[in-house]
Amino acid sequence: MVNTLGRTPLMTAHEIRIMQRELLRLSKNGRKLEILEWGSGGSTHYFTKFLQKEGIEYEWVSIEYNKDWFEKIKQEVSLDTGIKMYLFDAGNGSLKQRHTEMDEYIQFPRTLEKKFDLIFVDGRKRRRCVLEAKSLLTPDGVVLLHDAQRKYYQCVFKEFSDSSLVGPSLWRGTHKSVSFLYALWQKKITFLFGIYFNYFFSPVRSLVKKIYHIFRKY
Ligand SMILES: C[S@@+](CC[C@H](N)C(=O)[O-])C[C@H]1O[C@@H](n2cnc3c(N)ncnc32)[C@H](O)[C@@H]1O
Repeated sequence: MVNTLGRTPLMTAHEIRIMQRELLRLSKNGRKLEILEWGSGGSTHYFTKFLQKEGIEYEWVSIEYNKDWFEKIKQEVSLDTGIKMYLFDAGNGSLKQRHTEMDEYIQFPRTLEKKFDLIFVDGRKRRRCVLEAKSLLTPDGVVLLHDAQRKYYQCVFKEFSDSSLVGPSLWRGTHKSVSFLYALWQKKITFLFGIYFNYFFSPVRSLVKKIYHIFRKY
């Protein structure tokens, strides 16, 4: 069944295209696509609609930590039997839940005892989710991490033999073995994206934050 309401992911058009390209590539093997997402929202809506439009069969497992947000999204996608939504709310009332363990939220997918073709990490505890994703991928599978420009996520990238920043804030990792030259090329691209982001976007972002804080006082 199709879902009827449209939300868009919190991603740039370029990142959306990359995700769509990955989904199309992975669908070429002809079997049902198994997708896992940490962090429900516009992505749950948008990419499942895209798969429907392309006639690609899927099961989209979406894991969320915020109860109110979960209820909202779950209700909106309730007609889509291909989406399985799971809530792991630590119940401490905190929106961000940064200082909560969230083990269940991270470890739930392993209890499903299946592998995923694409894993999208866009919720809480992203570093741990990327590490967890390592053992959840099909041999051809791919992990995409959003907001990958954040330095504290980047220590886990080396866990994947094929690792690259495919946009200023989107990282892609697979277990594919790559040649030395290709790895070197990827490192160069990742390095350049890093410079591009830090030198051009970070100062602008800091300036906007400073202006916002000045105006908030008044
Ligand atoms: C960066 S958002 C990404 C969600 C989704 N993957 C997307 O692309 O739309 C990550 C988290 O923010 C929270 N969130 C996003 N939008 C929200 C909203 N409008 N109101 C409340 N929480 C929101 C949800 O808990 C979600 O898991």
